[in-house]
Amino acid sequence: LANPQFVAIAAIAAEGVIGGLVGYVLPKFEQRRSEFYVYDLAVADTHRRKGVATALIGELKRQARQRGIYVIFVQADYGDEAAVALYTKLGVREDVMHFDIVP
Ligand SMILES: CC(C)(COP(=O)(O)OP(=O)(O)OC[C@H]1O[C@@H](n2cnc3c(N)ncnc32)[C@H](O)[C@@H]1OP(=O)(O)O)[C@@H](O)C(=O)NCCC(=O)NCCS
Repeated sequence: LANPQFVAIAAIAAEGVIGGLVGYVLPKFEQRRSEFYVYDLAVADTHRRKGVATALIGELKRQARQRGIYVIFVQADYGDEAAVALYTKLGVREDVMHFDIVP
């Protein structure tokens, strides 16, 4: 990839792409370690609840371990029950405040 900080992983079935995950490696400048931010994750509605998202994150975890990444993090919106359930199963929830600043 031209940008080694950008990661895209696709789930492919016979009919084509059925899911995908994109995100970024975030190197810390004050410590020799990196974090990973999952920017988007989606699975085709015809292929949900079959473990596709879990497999995408599993592959991300494998790549992250290889790259020495310290933690993978992701945000979910209140009410997005599928995403919240998925991440509750796979990770540890941390409640924070989020601020948008208009550039
Ligand atoms: C969230 C999303 C990616 C989950 O994909 P998926 O392939 O269906 O997820 P998995 O099959 O790997 O699910 C793993 C576990 O997550 C939980 N889960 C997933 N979807 C769920 C739902 N709709 N309701 C309750 N629990 C759910 C379950 O615990 C599930 O395990 P189980 O099926 O053995 O009970 C998918 O629903 C999606 O694309 N949603 C729209 C986009 C989105 O919200 N993306 C997240 C943005 S942060």
